[in-house]
Amino acid sequence: MKALLLGLLFIASLAQAHIDNLENFITKPILADLSDLRTLGIPTMAQDEYTGVGYAVVTPEMQLKIQELSHATGKCGGFEDLSLDQFFVSTSFDQLLGNLATLKQKNELYDRGPFRSVIAEKSSIIEGAFAEISLENMKSTVQWLSSYPNRFNKAPQPNGHVEEMKKRLEALLANSKVPFQVSLIDHGSTKQKSIRVRLLGSTNPNEIIVMGGHLDSINISLGGQRLAPGADDNASGSANLFEALRIISQKDQSLRTIDFFWYAGEESGLLGSAEIAKQYKAQKADVIAVLQLDMTLFPGSGNLVIGNMTDFTSSWLRDYLRSVNDLYIHAQIIEDKCGYGCSDHASWHRQGYATLMPFESRMKQYNPNIHSARDVVNKDSNFDHSVAYTKIALVFGMDLANSSVRQPY
Ligand code: BES
Ligand code: ZN
Repeated sequence: MKALLLGLLFIASLAQAHIDNLENFITKPILADLSDLRTLGIPTMAQDEYTGVGYAVVTPEMQLKIQELSHATGKCGGFEDLSLDQFFVSTSFDQLLGNLATLKQKNELYDRGPFRSVIAEKSSIIEGAFAEISLENMKSTVQWLSSYPNRFNKAPQPNGHVEEMKKRLEALLANSKVPFQVSLIDHGSTKQKSIRVRLLGSTNPNEIIVMGGHLDSINISLGGQRLAPGADDNASGSANLFEALRIISQKDQSLRTIDFFWYAGEESGLLGSAEIAKQYKAQKADVIAVLQLDMTLFPGSGNLVIGNMTDFTSSWLRDYLRSVNDLYIHAQIIEDKCGYGCSDHASWHRQGYATLMPFESRMKQYNPNIHSARDVVNKDSNFDHSVAYTKIALVFGMDLANSSVRQPY
């Protein structure tokens, strides 16, 4: 059945590629797990051993093999289609490899060096902020977002939930203690808009802490009504950010600026974040750290077991997370990998920025209902687990945004 579906998908994609690209031979550039490419004997044109990512130009047959292998090993998409991403193409592959190499070198120097990005001591103000987290608020945000038939970027009306979210953010911030700005961001690659809330920093406003998650959803099955409630993927991360913003905006203004993002079109290839990160880089924005929250509601590896993704992320921020955890959260942190640029942090990482992605579980144990009509709030949804990610966002906003720590070297 799966093979049949994949076969149909394959024929459909051929037809699509044919229509889109009449003059071109049907091969495309992709990024995929290096070990998958090697297992399948697909030649790579470039590879990064550290991140375990390979660049290859594949035929449709090769693409299908990669998808089959990644599904068999419990991964999701398994590859990233770079031909879809006009904004990637305009960042040359050399430039991309340069960015990755610089980050790799920084990670290595950091890993070998005597420094560790730890927090010196616990703050009672931050613990006070934790006590203000409301599970009910988080739950009602997830329920509201997952009540839309879908939040798909290619839907006829892709911005209904985006506009309502903007209104809710403005209401939330109506009596903010911190100077703020709410903006909708237009994109070239999709009609869907991203949202940014900027909390302006006081003494170091040019240093930026980014926290984001994607607001869109997708149903990848064929036929049916294609409902995509996306409760876990990713109303959950969106709700963590919403709740953290509510609390942070009532505290003293931080030294650094905090940019909260709810990205568009992640499910169609990291579209919103790719444009945004590229624009920040072009403006030479001093982004200190990028936190990505994508799927925080399904504790597939047990309550308070957090997967700490090691690919497309930075050593010093993973250490920082451990330190945050030791002091404040007391979860079990397990290092794991997506194996490909599985979420928006990869967009920032490719532009050379430091990123972190704490995830709901080990990679192998993620919510099996994502990308389907079954991704709803149900008995497996665990808001006590999800609170840990709101806490991480609070520490980013109240510790990292008030410190002078940055990626060394
Ligand atoms: N939340 C997922 C990513 C994910 C899924 C991470 C399972 C870890 C385990 C995200 O929304 C997503 O679906 N990403 C796409 C990749 C993108 C480039 C289209 C995917 O994984 O297929
Ligand atoms: Zn997804």
